[in-house]
Amino acid sequence: MREQNDDAAALEAEAIGRAFDGRTVLAGVDLRLGPGEVIALLGPSGCGKTTLLRIVAGLLAPTTGRLRIGGRLTAEGGGCAAPPEARGLGMVFQDYALWPHLSVRDNVAFPLRMRGVARKERRARAEAALAQVGLGGFADRWPGTLSGGQQQRVALARAIVAEPPLVLFDEPLSNLDRELRESLAVEMGRLIRRLGLSSVYVTHDQAEAFTIADRVAVMLDGRIAQIDPPEALFARPASVAVARFLNIGAIFDGALEDGRFRCGRGALDVPAEGLGGWGVCASGPAHLLVPRTAVAPADPANGHLRARVVHCQFQGDRYLLHLDLGDVAETTAGHLACPSDRPARAGELIGLALARDRLRLWPTAA
Ligand SMILES: Nc1ncnc2c1ncn2[C@@H]1O[C@H](COP(=O)(O)OP(=O)(O)OP(=O)(O)O)[C@@H](O)[C@H]1O
Ligand SMILES: [Mg+2]
Repeated sequence: MREQNDDAAALEAEAIGRAFDGRTVLAGVDLRLGPGEVIALLGPSGCGKTTLLRIVAGLLAPTTGRLRIGGRLTAEGGGCAAPPEARGLGMVFQDYALWPHLSVRDNVAFPLRMRGVARKERRARAEAALAQVGLGGFADRWPGTLSGGQQQRVALARAIVAEPPLVLFDEPLSNLDRELRESLAVEMGRLIRRLGLSSVYVTHDQAEAFTIADRVAVMLDGRIAQIDPPEALFARPASVAVARFLNIGAIFDGALEDGRFRCGRGALDVPAEGLGGWGVCASGPAHLLVPRTAVAPADPANGHLRARVVHCQFQGDRYLLHLDLGDVAETTAGHLACPSDRPARAGELIGLALARDRLRLWPTAA
């Protein structure tokens, strides 16, 4: 067992598994967080995000696997080696969890009280933490007199006051309305970075994950399906499931034959050479991802595909054409829309040019 040191990974989870009543919820999660790194855990409801966070916090034991925090082994196999207090992590939850009968100052100072820090030092550190989250003058207020966004910042001050090696966030903004959530996400992201906090940030909001995190771990069915910076997730989704979850574009079901991908009785017919994933994808049934960013309007006679405009949506700086793909529609999952500099009439037939280097091909799972 190593002692905590500054170069060690903030968190190392190896093959973490967890079952409830014989049902697997986490199926071998590997995750490594560098010092000062912020990882967002993004996944649909029920995929195991909170379960993983509770295991890291020490509130729940993993069924299998190993966990290190700051280089120290904190959990292994069926036993929970270190209790939550010994891990000293900061935590921020959806419901703030502030004590209504304690002042803002005493709420923030609470983790220091648990560690036996003297009263005077507690006060000073709590006030410094409040100043860091922009609530300098709020120490004597009661939680019930604060707005939701302010309460969440108090919860953040409490999470960082003891300078924890790792801060865990579980959907901290999901109780707030959309506008506040967006501005607070930017603010939280800046604060987390300024304070150099190593963090795992759980959310099911893609925009929030992309705002906050250095890398985003997409979690599907109890596994991390891909972990990458946001741009790389969009440019090179690892699987059709990741592309579908991130809603990157339309997915066509067709077949790879004679070096071409075809679907919809030839309505889409593109050479496979040069497509992302070509080469690992043998002849046979295949999925083709057409990201929204790979589609541009073209002359109907020239494009790779023809489509009818269903609706033209003005977006301030450009138009978004919502499309009906006619013959290929039955083979398409997801909606195809195409950004355009010019408006189009509903019902108009247009051609679509595809940026082939952005398309991706996967064999259809047997
Ligand atoms: N203590 C428990 N006992 C039994 N099943 C549980 C327990 N805790 C979680 N589960 C189940 O494990 C699965 C994953 O739950 P978890 O709370 O980790 O999901 P989540 O990804 O955080 O979802 P959400 O986005 O809705 O918060 C769910 O099917 C849930 O019902
Ligand atoms: Mg959850």
